[in-house]
Amino acid sequence: MIKKALVVGATAALLSTSLLSTASAQDAPTPEQQAAAAADTRQSVFKLLRFYLTPLVGMARGAPFDAEMAEKNGRRIAALAPSIPDLFMHDTRGFDIDTEALDVIWEDKAEFENKAMALMNNANAFADQAATGDRGATLGAFRALGGSCGDCHDAFRVDND
Ligand code: HEC
Repeated sequence: MIKKALVVGATAALLSTSLLSTASAQDAPTPEQQAAAAADTRQSVFKLLRFYLTPLVGMARGAPFDAEMAEKNGRRIAALAPSIPDLFMHDTRGFDIDTEALDVIWEDKAEFENKAMALMNNANAFADQAATGDRGATLGAFRALGGSCGDCHDAFRVDND
């Protein structure tokens, strides 16, 4: 009886280890899948940045001035900006994935980070102007904020516009 229980136990243990290893072999994403997931994540953050920037672009083009929204969206962009370099810690060079990121991001990390910090500073400067309620000064500060998106894209993203 004891012997049989031991055998059953040992078989169960063996079975579960082999099941475990099969499961983890199947579940473990390939390096390519990991790179694709990293690209997805960073692209989502850029969509979020665009979400906050779009109403500001509208305002700069003549939509009614809304100081409260302008300040809030400026702060949101400033808060997201320092995540940009974090999101590129995963080096996705050389993988066949859907991305517009240029290799130079990982060759000149310091400059990439500078561009992200410029976005943060310009977004805060914009929000500071919006907080005063001064339409002219706020719209004046928008140029630098919007410019910091394009500035990084010019250097670090596939040129598609
Ligand atoms: C520090 C550099 C940097 C800054 C600053 C930056 N971007 Fe980008 N952006 C990129 C890179 C690199 C990509 C390409 C990412 C990819 O395809 O993997 C990108 C992609 C995008 C995309 C495409 C996302 C998609 O659907 O795939 C949008 C939209 C975008 N950025 C908007 C913005 C906006 C709006 C701002 C400013 C508020 C901004 N970006 C600031 C580097 C930057």
